[in-house]
Amino acid sequence: MTTPPKDLIIIGFSGFGKEIYWLASRLGVTVRGFLDDNPDASEKSFGSASVLGGVMQWKDYKDCDFVIAIGSPRIRRKVFDKMSAVGTPTFATLIDPAAVVMADHVSVGPGSVICAGSICTVEVDIGAHVIINLNCTVGHETRIGDFATIAPMVAISGNVSIGACVEVGTGATIRQGLTVNSGAMIGMGSVLTKNVADNTVVFGSPARPIKTIAE
Ligand SMILES: CC(C)(COP(=O)(O)OP(=O)(O)OC[C@H]1O[C@@H](n2cnc3c(N)ncnc32)[C@H](O)[C@@H]1OP(=O)(O)O)[C@@H](O)C(=O)NCCC(=O)NCCS
Repeated sequence: MTTPPKDLIIIGFSGFGKEIYWLASRLGVTVRGFLDDNPDASEKSFGSASVLGGVMQWKDYKDCDFVIAIGSPRIRRKVFDKMSAVGTPTFATLIDPAAVVMADHVSVGPGSVICAGSICTVEVDIGAHVIINLNCTVGHETRIGDFATIAPMVAISGNVSIGACVEVGTGATIRQGLTVNSGAMIGMGSVLTKNVADNTVVFGSPARPIKTIAE
């Protein structure tokens, strides 16, 4: 007998939060509601789920799983830290039915989301609270650290190592064997041919460093 999935609470009533609602519906998971600290979000709804309160009200929904639907890695990690400071929420791992991710070949941590059209091949290790958005490819023996965000249409070749809290912009391509260190940001459309230092923003073809981001 299989355990039915728990209801889901989506943290963040953003456009991406609504896309997670859509993903959950495609998986047959019931969304109990959204939690968002933005006063503009209060009492709003999407589909059959409404905003139930602020993030710290998660403790009223301990029978649910959670997912943090916030695109920015740093903000996602902050929200996770805030929730975890007062308890132990359980996080869902959501893999769209139209993604190609085989459990024998790919490990995916709690709180992570893999959207429709994305393909992860073999010996891929995806951390916790990672977002892999629509139509990405992730090649063999690639590692993606906790809280990383991979925007739509990103192509990651084999043997790539992506650190924690890295953000890869839409349509970037990453050459095989490279390391993108933690907190770095790869601009949309970049062609990455060299390793990236931590907390460094790069863009262009070939991608060049333009600035650093404060931790
Ligand atoms: C790289 C990036 C982080 C830079 O942001 P920023 O520091 O705010 O830089 P700005 O937008 O002020 O742009 C500075 C200059 O770089 C250029 N530029 C910005 N991003 C660029 C990119 N990805 N490739 C080439 N040039 C870029 C701008 O046109 C601007 O040029 P100018 O000085 O000649 O006017 C950002 O543009 C980016 O690519 N973000 C990713 C967006 C994304 O993929 N979102 C996913 C949503 S799901």
